[in-house]
Formats: sequence, structure tokens, C-alpha cells
Amino acid sequence: MLDTINIIKQNALTELEKVTDVQLLDAFRINFLARKGQIAELFDKLKDVPSDQRPAAGKALNELRVLVQSNFDEKKATLEQTSNKRASKIDLSLPGRKHWVGSKHPLMQTLDEIKRIFLGMGFTVETGPEIEDDYHNFEALNFPPDHPARDMQDTFFISEKVLLRTHTSPVQIRVMEKQQPPIRVIIPGRVYRNEAVSARSYCLFHQVEGLYVDTHVNFAELKGTLVAFAKQLYGSSLKYRFRPSFFPFTEPSAEMDITCFLCHGKGCRVCKGSGWLEILGCGMVDPNVFSSVGYDTEKYTGYAFGMGIERITMLRYGIDDIRLLFENEIRFLSQF
Ligand code: DAH
Repeated sequence: MLDTINIIKQNALTELEKVTDVQLLDAFRINFLARKGQIAELFDKLKDVPSDQRPAAGKALNELRVLVQSNFDEKKATLEQTSNKRASKIDLSLPGRKHWVGSKHPLMQTLDEIKRIFLGMGFTVETGPEIEDDYHNFEALNFPPDHPARDMQDTFFISEKVLLRTHTSPVQIRVMEKQQPPIRVIIPGRVYRNEAVSARSYCLFHQVEGLYVDTHVNFAELKGTLVAFAKQLYGSSLKYRFRPSFFPFTEPSAEMDITCFLCHGKGCRVCKGSGWLEILGCGMVDPNVFSSVGYDTEKYTGYAFGMGIERITMLRYGIDDIRLLFENEIRFLSQF
């Protein structure tokens, strides 16, 4: 009996050493100290011990129970203390973590507005590839080889005949290649130019192209549509003018100006003293462009226009550096 008591004592003490949390502690209690535990079992066996050895065995057993119980109590107290300490590290009075709510990028807000206006006038939305071939980006748009206008569009070339599109106009060609008139589409998308990065120009930006082809489309309709568009975007009191211009794919061509939003026409830094701001290029589709997609140039006429979304966004919100639109700095974006 005394040997068994010693073994159980050793076991109990090493087991208790291993206890690191309250679950293990409870398992220990059930194993050794509970009513059906190892120590209680030994008390039950005491009656089988020869009567001359019983007093010594009883005494040793009592000592075992007291020892194990007091070690158990001590362990329990230290475990409770550490868990209290851990709990006290949680400060319930701290303010909660803030969840940032995202918002639409100002460029996409402008684009949504442009789309809404043109969809309301019966246009649909088309898109095309950002990696283009020379044919769609230049040749089919009536830029002959070696035409100086090609140089104006600082192109990123991928290979001799493959490039990053410099404007959304090549999608005009792609739409007309797969579809017969009447066509009335707007084409938003990214375009790329190998320009020195500055407050006014970036190596990529966004354009919205417009194309309307049918029988009897004329310049008056082009002006009427663009004026209706600009009044919805900038307000109905807007003043505007069309200036003659040049693009290889339109004839005649024009640029549309609106009065400067900052000085209302008096002349300032933003409009460089002229009182006017250019917002888009436009014109009647050149018959050479129709020929390149196989349209009957006697039957069809059309107009096209193109505008930069960055420029319109900068004018709308008074942003003076185009790079802000690409840096994705949260302090800037969260203002919109
Ligand atoms: N593609 C021209 C550019 O990037 C913009 C443009 C001008 C588009 C006149 C047109 C247009 O469709 O008719 O500068």
C-alpha cells in the first residue's frame, strides 16, 4: 500500500506540473481528487490492508490527500490570476476601429455622368482593345504613312506595327467593320502617350469617343448634340464656341470651347488669359474613313467627337495636377 501511495504521489506531482490551463486542471481533479479518483479508490482499499499496517497506511494516505489538494489549490490560484491579468488587458472604453468606406474614383464619376447624358440621347456604349495595330490606330483613320500627325501622338510601340492606342478613335473603325449604319455609339477607354509626365500630361489617360453614322447626318446635329451634352454637364447657362481645327479623320473639324469656370470669361491662369477652355475635338467623318470600312460614301454621312475625361474632371473639380488622378492617394480620393 505504501508503495502504491508513493507512486500515485509522484504521478500526481508530475501531472500537476504539466497543467497549463483550467481544462487540464479539471481533468487532473477528476483523475486524482474526485469521489471516483485514484486517491478515493485507495481509501476504499484501506479495509483490505492487514490491521497492523492499517494505521500507517491511513496516515500516509491522508498526507497524500492533503498534499495533492493543497498543490492543486495553489495551481488553481495562479491560473486564475494569470487569466485575470489577460482579461484586464482588454480596455472596453477604447473607441472602436474605424471602417473606411470606399468611393468611386472621380474619373469614373465623371465617366458615369458622361455616359448617363449620352445614353439619354440614344447612344450605346462600345469598347475596344488597348493594344492596337497601326492600321486601326492610324491608317484606317486617314493618317497616311509618314503623315506628320502621327508624330503628334507620341506613340508607345510594342513592335513596328503593334502599339498602345493613342486615342479611342480606332474603335470607331472596329465598330464600323462589324456593323452597318445607323450607328450611334460612345466609346470610353484608356489611351497611352509617350509624353513627359507633368502637372498637365501623363503617360496614360482616358477618352470618350463618339460616333454617329446614318443617311443625312449634318454638322448642325453635331453642334446641337454637343451643346446639349455640355449644358447638362456644366450647367445650362454655359457659353460655348466652335473653332475650326484639323484631324485627319474628320472634315471639316472643330474644337469646342466653353467659358472658363474660374474667371467666367475674364481671363485667368487656368484659361491662360483667353477666357475659354477647350473641352473636345469633333468633326464630320472623312469619306476616306468610310471607304476604309467599305461604307458607301455617297449614301452615308456621320460625325465624330473625342474628349479627355481627365481634363473634364480637372475642370469640374478644380484639380490642378493630373498626376493626382493616378497616384491613388487616399487623402485625395476621399474628398470625392
Ligand atoms: N482622337 C482625337 C485625339 O486624341 C480626338 C478626336 C478629335 C476624336 C476629333 C474624334 C474627333 O472623334 O472627331 O486628339
